[in-house]
Amino acid sequence: MAIRLGDQAPDFTADSTQGQIKLHDYLGDSWGILFSHPKDFTPVCTTELGRAAALKSEFDKRGCKILGLSVDGVKDHKGWSKDIEETQGHALNFPLLADPKREVAQLYDMIHPNELETLTVRSVFVIGPDKKVKLMLTYPASTGRNFDEILRVLDSLQLTAKHKVATPVDWKQGQDVIIVPAVTDEEAKKRFPGGWKAVKPYLRVVKQPK
Ligand code: BEZ
Repeated sequence: MAIRLGDQAPDFTADSTQGQIKLHDYLGDSWGILFSHPKDFTPVCTTELGRAAALKSEFDKRGCKILGLSVDGVKDHKGWSKDIEETQGHALNFPLLADPKREVAQLYDMIHPNELETLTVRSVFVIGPDKKVKLMLTYPASTGRNFDEILRVLDSLQLTAKHKVATPVDWKQGQDVIIVPAVTDEEAKKRFPGGWKAVKPYLRVVKQPK
């Protein structure tokens, strides 16, 4: 069955470049991002994994564990990781799941046969500390993902979880945010003692909380 936002992220056990991983145990109380790559030794994937490795400290700062997946075995992953380091200047510093039987790929509906028959598309699942799926993205193999955007949406999700604020169109870190509609003005007075600007009763703009 297709995974939807708010669903429990399906648990699994799989081999990786850092040994066997059981997803829920690996994540613990952290946020998590699981992202798929169509295949080892492919050009766009090589650039994406280098970029993810370069940004690992940014994910760490946000209490988020990252986890890649490609439908080849650990031996290929280890050979490919040398190319990633050589060409992108960053060695893999997070686990890359090996999924040659496509078990995780099937569980997460990462194979879209009308796009690519047996390889995964570029899926991204952001998983909250409660193990619920908070965000999903799907890109075709030919379009590399924007990992700055992945950090941006993680920031937005974490602000919502912590402060009950939403982020407006094109929001960037440090810009004003919006009090979510479910928060009454009474509750908002307690949460945001500095006040807010009610552009409309339903559009309450407030400085980004820390
Ligand atoms: C790539 O990573 O460049 C790629 C992978 C599979 C199909 C097309 C492109």
